[in-house]
Amino acid sequence: MAAQATGGSTAVGTARVVTCLADVSISPEMRFTTGIAEFDNVLGGGLVRGSVVLIGGEPGIGKSTLLLQAAGLLGKRGVSVLYVCGEESPQQVRSRADRVGASDGISLLPEVDVSSVEATALAERPQVVIVDSIQALFDPGLDGASGSVGQVRATAARLVRMAKTHEITLIVVGHVTKDGTIAGPRVLEHMVDTVLYFEGDSDHTFRIVRAVKNRFGSVSEIGIFEMGECGLAEVPQPSGVLLAQRVGGVAGSAVMAAMEGSRPLLVEVQALVTPSYGQVPRRLAVGIDTSRVLQVLAILERRADVALGTHDVYVSVAGGVRVTEPAVDLPLALALASAHRERELPHDRLAFGEIGLTGEVRAVPHASARLREASRMGFTCAMGPSKCEAGSTGIEYCGVGSIRSALEDVLG
Ligand code: TYD
Ligand code: MG
Repeated sequence: MAAQATGGSTAVGTARVVTCLADVSISPEMRFTTGIAEFDNVLGGGLVRGSVVLIGGEPGIGKSTLLLQAAGLLGKRGVSVLYVCGEESPQQVRSRADRVGASDGISLLPEVDVSSVEATALAERPQVVIVDSIQALFDPGLDGASGSVGQVRATAARLVRMAKTHEITLIVVGHVTKDGTIAGPRVLEHMVDTVLYFEGDSDHTFRIVRAVKNRFGSVSEIGIFEMGECGLAEVPQPSGVLLAQRVGGVAGSAVMAAMEGSRPLLVEVQALVTPSYGQVPRRLAVGIDTSRVLQVLAILERRADVALGTHDVYVSVAGGVRVTEPAVDLPLALALASAHRERELPHDRLAFGEIGLTGEVRAVPHASARLREASRMGFTCAMGPSKCEAGSTGIEYCGVGSIRSALEDVLG
């Protein structure tokens, strides 16, 4: 019986032989390590052969720099790399490669037509193909300009198919734009094995590479880098770098023991509170969600008698880092109250803890990791939730039950 054009086929297909799941053999995955420990770790222990990695981030954040460095190191280790530069000239790539000291074993392909990229990769058979960027490529058989959703999807799907069929490791760069005019890497996330995003702002040198999806590793991993004269340098001890510019004796500064994935990180939360001359007081936050700041302001007013309704409030996490976890509440509240009362907080003390709407300080995970990092960085006292598995970390721990008692404790 012929299939209906609209209703689909009702014909019975051919039966296939099924496999017992337990009989499926798995070979241990083979990985290429770059030697950049922060990058290898975030990948879950290096690049898996035949896997597809998407690296997203805003233009100018350092995606090409990191990949060129990684490509150079892979080349030095005898791994063949094909670098497809779709948006920069070979001269630009060469000059960046010289700057970061990478050129060994990298073949360059200035090309934007995805069919030529595929044909070249199949002829050259490199072990790793880097496509910089997916928005620059286009499929001549399709309508739409390069960078449109259709083109980005189609070109990526074609390259992913090639990588999987021929066991070529593929790294794809995707730009994220704030205004969203270009199809972002989000449309590709489901197609790839690993998704890494670059964070940080181009005004600061600090960069965090975060795994948001990884079929071959944990998503709680991050890599921390600093952009310098010779490319991206690893920062194995980021707390020291982030606190290096902290000055003592100033009101409105609180140190937080934060967690970035599975790693503790000490950051400085700064607040400035000034009388407001406008009709509506200003609330500006950098590195913390404004909604979080508004909630902490409301809690301070209702639960601790710190009323900032007639004041402008500016909040910032120093160093261009973003803190999204609720544990920022307590250090944020301390910084705000300290700024308001113009009284500095003890210099050798830090804080962490979520604050509930009734003003209670709530437990947060990884207390002992936070405290160990605090102790390592020379802090002698930490303030946090009273219900907390602090363990023995060689630091004096001051558990507080509410925001009111926390403020009494440090500001009197
Ligand atoms: P780039 O890797 O080109 O960013 P993306 O590929 O994500 O768009 O990085 C560009 C920025 O990094 C640019 O502003 C210059 C800066 N940079 C350095 O500061 N030092 C360096 O060694 C390099 C190569 C770049
Ligand atoms: Mg680039």
